[in-house]
Amino acid sequence: MYQDQNAPLDLRVADLLGKMTLEEKIQQLNQQAFGLNLNANNQGQTLHDVAPDIGSLIFLNDDPVERNSIQRRAMEESRLGIPILFGFDTIHGMRTVYPIPLAQACSWNPALVTQAAAMAARETKLTGIDWTFSPMIDVARDPRWGRIAESYGEDPYTVSVFGVATVQGYQGVELTESSGVAACLKHFAGYGASEGGRDYRATDISAQALWETYLPPFESGVKAGAATLMSGFNDISGVPASANRYLLTEVLKKCWAHAGFVVSDWNSIEQLVAQGVAKDRKEAGLKAFEAGVEMDMVDRIYADHLQELLDEGKLSMDSINDAVARVLRVKFRLGLFERPYTPIVPVSERYLRPDDRRIAAQLAEESMVLLKNDGGVLPISPAVKSLAVIGPMVKDQENLLGCWSGNAKAEDVETLFDGLTREFGGGADLIYARGCDFDGDDDSGFAEAVAAAAHADVVVLCLGEKKSWSGENASRSTIALPGIQEKLAGCLRQVGKPLVLVLSNGRPLELRRLAPLADAILEIWQPGIAGGTPMAGILSGRVNPSGRLAISFPVVTGQIPIYVGMRSSARPNDGNYQDIPGEPLYPFGHGLSYAFFHYGRAILSQDKVGMDEKVTVQVPVTNTGSVEGQETVFWYISDPVCSISRPMKELKYFEKKSIKPGETVVFTFEIAPLRDLSYCDSTGKRLLEAGDFHVRVKDQQVSFELSGC
Ligand code: GLC
Repeated sequence: MYQDQNAPLDLRVADLLGKMTLEEKIQQLNQQAFGLNLNANNQGQTLHDVAPDIGSLIFLNDDPVERNSIQRRAMEESRLGIPILFGFDTIHGMRTVYPIPLAQACSWNPALVTQAAAMAARETKLTGIDWTFSPMIDVARDPRWGRIAESYGEDPYTVSVFGVATVQGYQGVELTESSGVAACLKHFAGYGASEGGRDYRATDISAQALWETYLPPFESGVKAGAATLMSGFNDISGVPASANRYLLTEVLKKCWAHAGFVVSDWNSIEQLVAQGVAKDRKEAGLKAFEAGVEMDMVDRIYADHLQELLDEGKLSMDSINDAVARVLRVKFRLGLFERPYTPIVPVSERYLRPDDRRIAAQLAEESMVLLKNDGGVLPISPAVKSLAVIGPMVKDQENLLGCWSGNAKAEDVETLFDGLTREFGGGADLIYARGCDFDGDDDSGFAEAVAAAAHADVVVLCLGEKKSWSGENASRSTIALPGIQEKLAGCLRQVGKPLVLVLSNGRPLELRRLAPLADAILEIWQPGIAGGTPMAGILSGRVNPSGRLAISFPVVTGQIPIYVGMRSSARPNDGNYQDIPGEPLYPFGHGLSYAFFHYGRAILSQDKVGMDEKVTVQVPVTNTGSVEGQETVFWYISDPVCSISRPMKELKYFEKKSIKPGETVVFTFEIAPLRDLSYCDSTGKRLLEAGDFHVRVKDQQVSFELSGC
């Protein structure tokens, strides 16, 4: 029966479960790593010989033929022929690497993100991987935390939209589609609140904050059908995520009825000992299993201790059966019993297809944010005859990939220099000087850089971060760039030529000293393999920048946390630091265009609405500029009086549209009270209270009354 693909899924699971021995069941809950482990943070054994009945492998090599040979042993040597589930961290591309997730959110183009994820799923599948440990949907509000690069930013609604878009790209409409891979929502939950932005540290999250900020993206992802979740490293107000029954069972399984499974993070079960909630590995395994972690990532604790715990009556056979059923359900949903082997296609057809590169370039283009453009320095005029192209990022390849760059190869990356040469090389001379390294104190290259600037019409200064300065275990005490880079900018400013600053980084940066030195600033993030041409196209004006910030840029590190959706100070004109402005240097939603968008008056369909009715608000936006541009309209809700203090404004909808010169486009937000006006209390219950509400769009605010009936 379980091998009959036309039989109902749950019958197949029950039939197979009924045939399995306890040892075979426990093996399904065991995941080991196989292959060359290059992740310095994840030390530990990697297998070189695999037991054919193991449940899952993290496949760290990239040869589908090798993967199929392992799978063949599972299908032919194991007693019941249960396929192995191969997993890997495809975070923003496998070999065709596109922008880091923080950049993707700045595109405000979920449909494009879905396309990119689908492309990544295909490359992943053809590498031999059935399951990616992505999307990472931790709301992140502390840029000192290196993993902010992997997130979709500070706003729960934004993170929800892009998390769902990515799940849909990975899994397709139905998970059994041949090119789809299973998604994994991570890190459940609250990992982004790591104390002081230091990775692996405790998080102190109130029940209200959990439901209001950190859980919404996971609830959306579960409702979108994400097959799995990964439990986090972090301790949540004293209860580690990987031993948190409230989260993993009460919320995920009972409240949200998730039918898939939870895998622990690397070593996060054994780490329960270090976190002080288990005296040894065996107790750690009991705590994690009882909480609701079904699969053990590389600790071998379930393999070593579940039988013992069962024999001691500390676990029930029902709980083991339920865990195994969840793992089998995902394997059946993936079609692994019918299609256990990866189709082998030549590498040239597997990776880096022209269409895939095009998607990567378009997403890079739409994620870049023009932060500053004083005096219309950009776009660079075609009359310009020479460009000084300076900085450590100009000819760099590896660092443009960003963290978690899959199986990318640096040689696949288009450099900024190559992009600029293609864009400007026909009409202008490019004078290159590295100027300095990313850090250190060697300024011996400054003279050459200053000389290049002196001979050029315009200076393009490309600065930023190494890829290793963000990602896992890459927290930094300051979000400013190293002094040597700021010093180089200062020297170039003295030359007096128009200075365009291009930044490639994995987090918001402290630009308090750098920003005044530049006439224009283009944030290109870590664009992946195809950032050079999009960046150059924006500098030349061939591309009109359309990125808007999905993460606030604080004035200085000391201003952290500052983010959209903060609550009001008790004294609204106070509650800030004495020595810096009260606002971020560049706020959430900020981004310039070469077009000019004039917002007409926002109009409400009515000024009173019942709880089960809808109210529509519209705003006409006119492009008064001379070039076409894409504008993203952000719709916020404010609830000035409520039983609890609510954020000053909450993003509830956004829409990005192209507008031609002189054209007026009407943007519409249809408000559904329960979805858009309600709030979660500390138990996760959604509450809707009558009263006045404000809708905020750009610099306007319109109000309406929600009546009690
Ligand atoms: C890492 C990360 C997690 C990743 C896992 C497997 O430690 O925390 O995001 O998916 O291990 O590589």
